[in-house]
Amino acid sequence: MTLPNGPKTSPTWQMLEWTIDPIGYMERNTKKFGETFTARLGHGLNGLVFVSNPDNIREILTAEAQQFDAGRTNGILQIFVGDRSILLLDGAAHKQRRKLLMPPFHGDRVLTYGNTIIQATLCIVDERPLGRAFPVRSIAQEITMRVIFKAIFGLNEGERYDLLYTMMADILEMTASPLKASLLFFRILQQDWGPWSPWGRFLRRQKELDDLLYTVIRERRETLDASRTDILTLLLSATDENGESMSDRELRDELVTLLLAGHETTATALSWALYWTHKYPEVCQRLLAELDELGETPDLMAVFKLPYLTAVCNETLRLHPVALITFPRIVNGSFQMGDRTFEEDTVLAPCIYMTHHREDLYPDSDRFNPDRFLDRQYSPFEFYPFGGGNRRCLGMALALYELKLALATMLRHYEFALPEDRPIKPMRRGITLAPSGNLQLVKLRRRSPSEVRQAASAVGS
Ligand code: HEM
Repeated sequence: MTLPNGPKTSPTWQMLEWTIDPIGYMERNTKKFGETFTARLGHGLNGLVFVSNPDNIREILTAEAQQFDAGRTNGILQIFVGDRSILLLDGAAHKQRRKLLMPPFHGDRVLTYGNTIIQATLCIVDERPLGRAFPVRSIAQEITMRVIFKAIFGLNEGERYDLLYTMMADILEMTASPLKASLLFFRILQQDWGPWSPWGRFLRRQKELDDLLYTVIRERRETLDASRTDILTLLLSATDENGESMSDRELRDELVTLLLAGHETTATALSWALYWTHKYPEVCQRLLAELDELGETPDLMAVFKLPYLTAVCNETLRLHPVALITFPRIVNGSFQMGDRTFEEDTVLAPCIYMTHHREDLYPDSDRFNPDRFLDRQYSPFEFYPFGGGNRRCLGMALALYELKLALATMLRHYEFALPEDRPIKPMRRGITLAPSGNLQLVKLRRRSPSEVRQAASAVGS
């Protein structure tokens, strides 16, 4: 079988382009080879087929679960999450772990995090002094970290929380730029030359985090209170079909997975949403007008369902999908996509970024325009920031709830401004993309309810 055309440069060179300038890499190759092209990015893969046509995306995301493996391609994440994490599992083991982890992230359980999201947002923003610029990432990350800590451990304050927070933030900072991220993508750089070398520092910090997590797991196991509703208690109480409970190693890997996946991604989405709502004040005013209609103490579900707020969050995730591609899918047996048949072990990568930037679906696709989500309904193969099929993001409902409530709370209660009007571009942060540079906001004042109404009444004037 011949794979679709693609760049012929060396895998190392392509990996360098993919690490430093992933958007440029995808755009150049789509222009040259078409919407389906084969990349060679090393890591033992013969070729990675980038796919962005919605019909093909549907074929991949609606295929039977056993048609693909995905855990095997997630080796790069193993550095953070270990090899027992859901991200690395396939087949029956993956299905079973998903079934176990799903309930706390769905239905009414997600709604129970509402007050935590609002309290965390108010408390964290209140701490920032008036009139002074602050990094948006720091606020967004603190909010999402507090929420995920509450969901996982049932705690969100105290010394242990502070320590865990600092350790996680430190580890993530170590891969938070294109240059630093090369540590993840180039195995040759993963050399422990002592505590001052980048990899040595990474390993030591990770060991400290693991030690603390193992202590927490041991203590919780010894004093297990099955009536608690946090995720750690759920995992500690769970047994498989043979009556075996999860080992400490499995628990550690799953905790790191959820801590990481559960806050870094949502923090990036919130940062972008804050950027665009302040870049275009009319967007902010329309949001305030919509919120104002819900009265002074709005029902949280009503906030979640607001059409314009939903459109703003969707447009943010369309323009800046946090993950450029879904987990790559490895074909089991053979797979028919359009008029091509792909053989065993071909790796297909649904390319969220390129689908979300198709001019035939999203005219003027580089422009932030929430109205496109009010004018048209997009299918889950045209708009899929959370992937799909049997690997669809487990935290999607929580992430959307958090994004909407945190954004609405910040806009309702405070007035902010961008300190300078400079373009902000997407830049690699670990395996995701986030706003470039040091995106900042200035907190101008706390709004009174009548001010919200005043700002809202300016809409359309
Ligand atoms: C804006 C925020 C988020 C975005 C854009 C996002 C995006 C994604 C994407 C694209 C995937 C891969 C899906 C696929 O390959 O089809 C994924 C998987 C996953 N996400 Fe998220 N995510 C977000 C927030 C969260 C949150 C809050 C959690 C909660 C802990 C979470 C947990 C996970 C897990 C566990 C998986 C792996 C699922 C599996 O392997 O079966 N994510 N996410």
